[in-house]
Amino acid sequence: MQIFINMGKQPIEGFSKLTKEGKIEWITNTYLEGNPEMKTILKQYWNTDEATQKLHDEFSENTISNFYMPYGIAPNFLIDGRLYALPMAVEESSVVAAASKAAKFWLDKGGFKTTIINTKKLGHTHFIIRAEAHKILHLFNFELKKKLFQDTEAITKNMRQRGGGILDIELIDKTQDLPNYFQLKASFDTRDSMGANFINSCLEQFGKTLKETISASEDFTAEEKNSLQVVMNILSNYTPDCIVRAEVSCKIEDLIDDSGMRPEEFAWKFKQAVTIAEIEPYRATTHNKGIMNGVDAVVIATGNDFRATEACAHAYAARSGKYSSLTHCTTDNGVFRFWIDLPISIGVVGGLTNLHPLVKFSLALLGKPSANELMSILAVSGLAQNFAALRSLVTTGIQKGHMKMHLFNILNQFNATEEEKKYFVEYFKNKTVSHHEVISELEKMRG
Ligand code: MEV
Repeated sequence: MQIFINMGKQPIEGFSKLTKEGKIEWITNTYLEGNPEMKTILKQYWNTDEATQKLHDEFSENTISNFYMPYGIAPNFLIDGRLYALPMAVEESSVVAAASKAAKFWLDKGGFKTTIINTKKLGHTHFIIRAEAHKILHLFNFELKKKLFQDTEAITKNMRQRGGGILDIELIDKTQDLPNYFQLKASFDTRDSMGANFINSCLEQFGKTLKETISASEDFTAEEKNSLQVVMNILSNYTPDCIVRAEVSCKIEDLIDDSGMRPEEFAWKFKQAVTIAEIEPYRATTHNKGIMNGVDAVVIATGNDFRATEACAHAYAARSGKYSSLTHCTTDNGVFRFWIDLPISIGVVGGLTNLHPLVKFSLALLGKPSANELMSILAVSGLAQNFAALRSLVTTGIQKGHMKMHLFNILNQFNATEEEKKYFVEYFKNKTVSHHEVISELEKMRG
């Protein structure tokens, strides 16, 4: 067997078949010199309740422990006239505090208003065929499209009963971009579910129906039939037509910030900051990252897929060909208006929603929202987060608040006692926390 460069380590066959203890033994012996401390760390994070631990183990594969994430609450969110406390799973200090601060700021100004613009999800059967486009289009219009609906009837039955299903199917000629490349592009309404499994099952049936229909058609030569390759059937995480708007507005004179900045100056600087993110991709990336701090924290807390929501948001931000801001601002006629259009595909049924105890808690806390309501809450969380970030950036700067929240991380790195922590909270009450100042002050204290 081949010896690998990293110190004679050998690959393993059948790792997944080992017991949990066996996996830990192998991992720690192979990579961590059997260090018992490392084993203790892993086991420290096991849930004491066996059933809960088993549930978590079975969410994924090859699990050896749980990876904790802080679960916090941002209260006082007035959204479409209802008061919410948002559950946020996030490790970055100051995200929850920023959300709470923004929620409070808008609480007495009418809160956040949202509009669901559309809820259409998309998926494609990507195929290659060496045949004239008009022939395929003819087959699609006169036979295939009907069959695609018919052959997926069993899969779509329940969804149709819930008011959803396949909305439309189109044939797209992509041969300008790639020789002989066509798509069946389908749009779906998946109601309260994210719908990934539903969409992919429909699309896989499309792939089969496409093959059967072409193969049975008399309009195609044997050579054309043989050239057909269904490359893949898969949903798209880019859902520009599954989109929600969240907005806030108030009179400019009401933009009173605790930094003491005049409302007019605040409005002007804030709008400049948004415009800079609209025109400058370097800034837009950080600006949108801040938005996703708010979105992802609630996405994770509600058991949704943050990789999908991230991918979609950034693809949408680049839809013009130039990456830009997801939020916008106007300051016309004495009124400050700030909004986000967020494309986001999420669910409140299926997936982890009925399984993960904290996800169940989050959804109960939010009043068992529909998927549309959760879309609104997520857009608000992103907008609030962006408002808080820009508010800090154009007034005091981000470090003052950020480092204050980060203080405990620094102190924990140095195993600070409760007494030392209290001292440092007081010490930095009126000044920006800095890493080096914590260290030098700690050194002095500890002699
Ligand atoms: C940090 O996680 C996010 C910010 O950088 C966002 C922004 O700059 O707008 C504060």
